[in-house]
Amino acid sequence: MSLFDLATGAVRILPAETAHRFTINGLKTGLAKPTPELDDPRLATTLKKSGLKLPNPIGLAAGFDKNAEVFAQMLAFGFGFVECGTVTPRPQVGNPRPRLFRLSDDQAVINRMGFNNDGLGLYVRRLSAVPRTVGIVGANVGANKDSDDRIADYVAGVKAVWPYCTYLTINISSPNTPGLRGLQDRGALEELLGRVGAAAREMDAAVKNRPVFLKIAPDLDDKAITDIAEVALAQDWLAGLIVSNTTIDRPETLTSQHKGETGGLSGAPLMEKSTRTLAAFHAVIGDRLDLIGAGGIASAQDVIAKLRAGAQAVQLYSALVFHGPLLVRRIKADLVAAMDAEGLTSIEAFRPA
Ligand SMILES: Cc1cc2nc3c(=O)[nH]c(=O)nc-3n(C[C@H](O)[C@H](O)[C@H](O)COP(=O)(O)O)c2cc1C
Repeated sequence: MSLFDLATGAVRILPAETAHRFTINGLKTGLAKPTPELDDPRLATTLKKSGLKLPNPIGLAAGFDKNAEVFAQMLAFGFGFVECGTVTPRPQVGNPRPRLFRLSDDQAVINRMGFNNDGLGLYVRRLSAVPRTVGIVGANVGANKDSDDRIADYVAGVKAVWPYCTYLTINISSPNTPGLRGLQDRGALEELLGRVGAAAREMDAAVKNRPVFLKIAPDLDDKAITDIAEVALAQDWLAGLIVSNTTIDRPETLTSQHKGETGGLSGAPLMEKSTRTLAAFHAVIGDRLDLIGAGGIASAQDVIAKLRAGAQAVQLYSALVFHGPLLVRRIKADLVAAMDAEGLTSIEAFRPA
């Protein structure tokens, strides 16, 4: 058992949000310092539309490093890319505590954090302090809860982070900011993407190669999926979709004490639903947009299931709560073993033909 496994065990005794803060502080002070390793070249992948080149397809999903404090350390743990945020223009305290719950028996998490973050000013200062050569760093932007013009918040976020990240994510799928998911409705989405697209074009004229992704909820019916796919496909500047955020569903199978808490559910019980939503988007979109799969990944088999459903890369977060940060190395080793077993020479071979 490694020091990190021991630390993961110790941190699990603390209340969930205290454990998270403890982890971030430990990483910041260098208490927990991973030794970077080179990836097996067979894990490298290039996303088709954006051309984004990843050393391996496993990313750290948004919400772990909301304030861009530890992305370099998380890259050193072996993630192929790390997404910081969600950041809002102005600092925001988020919802009252407790607002983060471990559902250990279900290998799941419920959160209703509500975009607690330090705001764009500090975020950009921290991002810009680390050379971009550190690795692939995404900046996930959102809107303040009390904003009069939420779309203007996204535009401000896009413009501020653009020079300092490798890619951007427009997060319109958090269930914890009332009304935010309404931006996924056809008319609202057209307006949002119209204004964000104008900002993206303006920024692109000065600084090239910043793919922009849109992050989507898993709680969508077929009509909503078709609407979103059509609106997204009409934006030549948009790189792709991240599918998905947390769910407001509460599957019957949940057994943990906290299953009735309000918020977004993530982790193992989200795997099937988010993969189904991903496959539904892939059925409409094919490879015309880059799809990044998230929701419930805890193993190499889960990664392969997302790739087979049409993902070109994946992200995870909740599984770290139960398995610690060394999980990503184990998953990569298991992926290489799975490729050996099937005689594959590239991770891209798991994608649908
Ligand atoms: C505590 C917590 C906070 C999160 N915060 C954000 C966030 O700020 N922005 C965002 O786009 N997604 C956020 N997410 C969603 C994750 O990025 C991810 O999409 C979701 O949890 C599904 O992946 P998982 O099952 O591997 O956790 C958060 C998830 C958790 C558990």
